[in-house]
Amino acid sequence: MKKVKVGILGATGMVGQRFIELLENHPWFEVSALAASERSAGKCYREAIAGRWKLESSIPSAIGALEVTECVPELDCTLVFSALDASIAEPVEQAFAKAGYVVSSNSRNHRMEKDVPLLIPEVNGDHLAIVTEQKKRRQWKGFIVTNPNCSTIGLVLALAPLHKKFTLKKIMVTTFQALSGAGYPGVASMDIIDNVIPYIGGEEMKMETEPQKILGRLKNNQFVMADIAISASCNRVGVSNGHLESVSIELEKKPSLDELMDALREFNPLAGLNLPSAPSQPIVLREENDRPQPRYDRNEGNGMACVAGRIRECPILDWKMSVLSHNTIRGAAGAAILNAEYMKVKGLVG
Ligand SMILES: NC(=O)c1ccc[n+]([C@@H]2O[C@H](COP(=O)([O-])OP(=O)(O)OC[C@H]3O[C@@H](n4cnc5c(N)ncnc54)[C@H](OP(=O)(O)O)[C@@H]3O)[C@@H](O)[C@H]2O)c1
Repeated sequence: MKKVKVGILGATGMVGQRFIELLENHPWFEVSALAASERSAGKCYREAIAGRWKLESSIPSAIGALEVTECVPELDCTLVFSALDASIAEPVEQAFAKAGYVVSSNSRNHRMEKDVPLLIPEVNGDHLAIVTEQKKRRQWKGFIVTNPNCSTIGLVLALAPLHKKFTLKKIMVTTFQALSGAGYPGVASMDIIDNVIPYIGGEEMKMETEPQKILGRLKNNQFVMADIAISASCNRVGVSNGHLESVSIELEKKPSLDELMDALREFNPLAGLNLPSAPSQPIVLREENDRPQPRYDRNEGNGMACVAGRIRECPILDWKMSVLSHNTIRGAAGAAILNAEYMKVKGLVG
């Protein structure tokens, strides 16, 4: 199969680096263009990223030699992954979509728009149908598809099978979010060592709104939001990667613990599609009292699975549990790549 040429916008950031790592030797996609700000443009990638490559893997040699360009829609590719800073993502992503590129974006800017899918293929693959409307309404040759915020995605992936079977009514969630979620250099070391910061700008609002869209329905080209009350409290902790969340839920139907655990274990809607980045088990259930933990569990399913555990009765709502997902893989670059793979099998990327 001839590989699809892809570009990365924001290739020098924390998420951009993950795209490069995850796309090395990808069976369907080949990185042919890298773009970032004018600070990096004109340099080869290895020079542009000097001192800022923060992954344990090495920079792939072919990528190191590629020239970084500015983010203008003249890249040699048909699909772009966007890991752009939110301050610039909106006009840049729109320019690429208008010029005919498929844009698979991580940025928050277009997530809640009424003609843009906020996609988790295991959960709401049918929402992709809205891109026909998006192209028509905006007179674009290409289109934009987004993935959720890094803390939303683990929460929704873990709760989607429960919503499907038992209908969610209320969610209370407290997060313990990793430093890489703030980009690089992110939070100053003097602020996070020996400390927890009980505020992440904009995060709670995203967690309280994005799930309703993802778990909602697409009806007559309109999103009907799921009727779920959500309260989120977001904290930054001194962990490198992996967002841990303590979640309490109220359900309309009242399942037993076994029924709840079976719903999580059996959930595997992409089985059979053979998407290269899809984990064999999207939700991994841990039964030990002290799991999941970021350091030990974040790489489950190559960082694409969400790990759930500590499922027990909640004296206020119905059930409570812990959920963990890798924020720059399942919560960012890996999610956008899985979205692109799903679009490819659905005939939207060629
Ligand atoms: N980190 C996470 O866990 C995570 C998870 C989900 C979503 N996201 C979202 O993904 C995006 C990237 O996050 P990040 O953590 O990778 O941020 P980051 O490390 O700060 O990287 C930002 C990238 O945007 C580029 N950029 C900044 N200003 C630009 C401009 N004026 N024109 C063109 N490019 C510009 C930077 O290029 P230079 O290097 O040239 O400045 C860099 O490549 C953000 O929208 C973020 O909210 C992040």
